[in-house]
Amino acid sequence: MQVKKLNEIDVRGKKVFIRADLNVPQDDAGNITEDTRIRASIPSIQYCLDNGAAVMITSHLGRPTEGTVGPDDTLAPVAVRMGQLLHRPVRLIADWVDGGFEVKPGEVVLLENCRCNVGEKKNNEALARKMAALCDIYVNDAFGTAHRAEATTHGIARFAPAACAGMLMGAEIDALSKALHDPKRPLVAIVGGSKVSSKLTILKSLADKVDQLIVGGGIANTFLLASGKRIGESLAEPELVKEAQAIIDMMKARGAEVPLPVDVVVADEVSALARANRISVDEVGPHDRILDVGPKTAAKLSEIIANAGTVVWNGPVGVFELPQFAGGTKMMASAIAHSEAFSIAGGGDTLAAIAKFHIAEDVGYISTGGGAFLEFLEGKTLPAIAALEERFTA
Ligand code: 3PG
Ligand code: MG
Repeated sequence: MQVKKLNEIDVRGKKVFIRADLNVPQDDAGNITEDTRIRASIPSIQYCLDNGAAVMITSHLGRPTEGTVGPDDTLAPVAVRMGQLLHRPVRLIADWVDGGFEVKPGEVVLLENCRCNVGEKKNNEALARKMAALCDIYVNDAFGTAHRAEATTHGIARFAPAACAGMLMGAEIDALSKALHDPKRPLVAIVGGSKVSSKLTILKSLADKVDQLIVGGGIANTFLLASGKRIGESLAEPELVKEAQAIIDMMKARGAEVPLPVDVVVADEVSALARANRISVDEVGPHDRILDVGPKTAAKLSEIIANAGTVVWNGPVGVFELPQFAGGTKMMASAIAHSEAFSIAGGGDTLAAIAKFHIAEDVGYISTGGGAFLEFLEGKTLPAIAALEERFTA
């Protein structure tokens, strides 16, 4: 994978357009509840400022309707947070596509939600050319959006005078490549979450590569069904039992395994007041819902993680937001923190679990990507990275 990198380019006195992924979670009042992506965007911005560039940054926020900036769509809260992190005011520019705003060397402005521009989603060429005309150098630092071919992630890279990868994009590509190509073994993947259907491609692709595939949450329930267990009223996708079985068989044939829970934590409802019971996986009753792995399983998974060479983590193994169902995910997080393995983690729920259990310092690399993280690990070519690669050879 060959792309030009920001630190290989002379940015002094140049107009630099940075596409970042500042799509952060917000509460109902618009307050930013988790700012990892903003913090991760700072090194590229700081580098450009320190080297005398005039800096414009943009990002999408949410999935707005093109043509208007609704109250939920504005990057205003992001500008405030970014200003705090950069220790300087960050001006927010509305209606910026046709230019008409000024930014001096050593100054930084934030360009309003790029997904509000008509043509962004469909990678409209006229829009991409206009945006490219705003700058001397286009920097793509939006790894989290690298799986989308949109005007600010793809088209503009083709038309800007120069195009390169930002520091975050570079770090993501390096860390994820390290886990994907020639990883230290055993290679262990943890794929949790509610649905097999949303993660079927990644499960299949990992089944071909990893030594142990730990499944969690609703995904594990579907695998339990496939192995003939009763799961009561647990969340699962019975229509995907065959696919789950195929993954188990595929792993077995390679001498690899899908370690399934031997004990579970059940309740009759998912609520803060639910009474949790720890039982053997063979004791699940018709009205039980499996909401976490039990302590024996957690210990077994921890041992697998302790002995791993590389761990890839996406998704919790239980409803960790509720304390009575957080044990499995907590123990796994702690195992990752203490393991000698090179660990990489990605996805919104996973980041929330990492924050909740305070292990951020002990994870080898935390990706800012959700969908992009998964697609990269599936071995797919991400369009935004492909656009930078084309500029490398062109
Ligand atoms: C994400 O949050 O996963 C990225 O910012 C991409 O957002 P999207 O799924 O709306 O394209
Ligand atoms: Mg949103």
